[in-house]
Amino acid sequence: MNNNHNDEHEESHKPPRRKEMSRRQFLTYTLGGATAYMAAGVVIPMVRFAVDPILQKGEDGSFVKVVEGSKITAEPQEFDFELKQQDGWYNSTAQLTAWISKTEDGQIVALSPVCKHLGCMVGWNNNDSHPNEFYCPCHGARYTANGKNLAVAPQPLDMYDVKEEGGWIYLGAIIPNTVAK
Ligand code: FES
Repeated sequence: MNNNHNDEHEESHKPPRRKEMSRRQFLTYTLGGATAYMAAGVVIPMVRFAVDPILQKGEDGSFVKVVEGSKITAEPQEFDFELKQQDGWYNSTAQLTAWISKTEDGQIVALSPVCKHLGCMVGWNNNDSHPNEFYCPCHGARYTANGKNLAVAPQPLDMYDVKEEGGWIYLGAIIPNTVAK
């Protein structure tokens, strides 16, 4: 009984036991923390560099001013223009061509000259046997003024997105033909 009492007494006078960190744990935490910190310092700028073009705001739809609307007639006319483009970090300027005309109901149509057969360039009224048509000299594909495929090519000519503003025609992305019937 007495012994028990003494034990309890001694126990109560021992300094409270703390959960102490072993030397090994201390080193593990310290080195692990330092390594993670240094790795973050290396990796975060790299990630930022890689995704930066994605984070940048694109230019306003990248439409290009091409020609005054008053110059457009029912007869397709050829216009060349430049498109500045950014592919990731790479800036370049593409030289593009559009055949622009006006449909019977006044809609502006800007056709891509790239033949839908194998990618040669079509011309308007460039073959005496097929007047008033787009004609591809490579394998004889033919299209109407609105780009509808008449021979050889499996699809109509693509067209540019068109915007009219302040009396000018602006061209944007190349899209599938929606006017050829
Ligand atoms: S590429 Fe135009 S007809 Fe073949």
